[in-house]
Amino acid sequence: MKVTIVGAGAVGASCAEYIAIKDFASEVVLIDIKEGFAEGKAMDLMQCSSLNGFDTKITGTTNDYAKTAGSNVAVITSGIPRKPGMTREELIGINAGIVQSVAENLIKHSPEVILIVVSNPMDTMAYLTHKATGLPKHRIIGMGGALDSARFKYRLAEALDCPTSDVDGMVIGGHSDVGMVPLIGKAVRNSVAVAEFLTAERMQQVVEDTKVGGATLTKLLGTSAWYAPGAAVSELVKAIALDSQKMFPCSALLEGEYGLNDISIGVPCILGKNGIEKIVTVSLSEAEQAKLHESAEGVRKTNGLL
Ligand code: LAC
Repeated sequence: MKVTIVGAGAVGASCAEYIAIKDFASEVVLIDIKEGFAEGKAMDLMQCSSLNGFDTKITGTTNDYAKTAGSNVAVITSGIPRKPGMTREELIGINAGIVQSVAENLIKHSPEVILIVVSNPMDTMAYLTHKATGLPKHRIIGMGGALDSARFKYRLAEALDCPTSDVDGMVIGGHSDVGMVPLIGKAVRNSVAVAEFLTAERMQQVVEDTKVGGATLTKLLGTSAWYAPGAAVSELVKAIALDSQKMFPCSALLEGEYGLNDISIGVPCILGKNGIEKIVTVSLSEAEQAKLHESAEGVRKTNGLL
């Protein structure tokens, strides 16, 4: 499996690092517009290979898309990250043009590629990629829900004072501070509903902390996070590489699922060698369904700025 990562900034480099450490890909190409930057990151990462015990070959290139030819999967992290106080939606003006040209370049050299969109505002960038490229919908995956769910599990474990391996939970909806829909009513600790352990107020706190997961880190770090985004991307790429048929919430183009049309938004998806193998329709409570639709309205508003 050959993986291209566009953007060798913190998120892109972190994706490359986790993909390499998990050792399922034969090749990772990092590409960036900044002269020598991707080459430097690739060299630094490759010098970890004997220490961390991986065989993945990582190379870097300054904007030469010919080097990405034949990629099975490409991850788009390009564009600018948000600064403290900014919403993801405010990045649209700069990032839309970048994401579109990156997607076109990738497809030119890798006609069969599966694209994973990370750049923000992610749901709108995924939608734009669908519109601009016309790729079959199973080949464009927006990465948001896998990250938001990881942050949800972190907050659940914190509230329950237990390891994250004890909890399970999923976040659907838009990848935005207001639009995320953490499915707290379906969250469990070892198959027991978390409502058995937590008060309604504490559960609400978990939901609120999860929704501002990215913003909290942006405030602390001065820029947006990279470790968990990189780890989340690496899990999606691994599911495709190993054809594992694992379920992750991903931003997928909907055609009637959940009563939504012509929008890319986070819903549970089965990932395998073809990308999105299936969009899973789970039963939602009335309140969850209403929140998902409200979230979709927010995403549509941002899509309208394209
Ligand atoms: C975050 C960015 C990747 O949530 O959107 O950290």
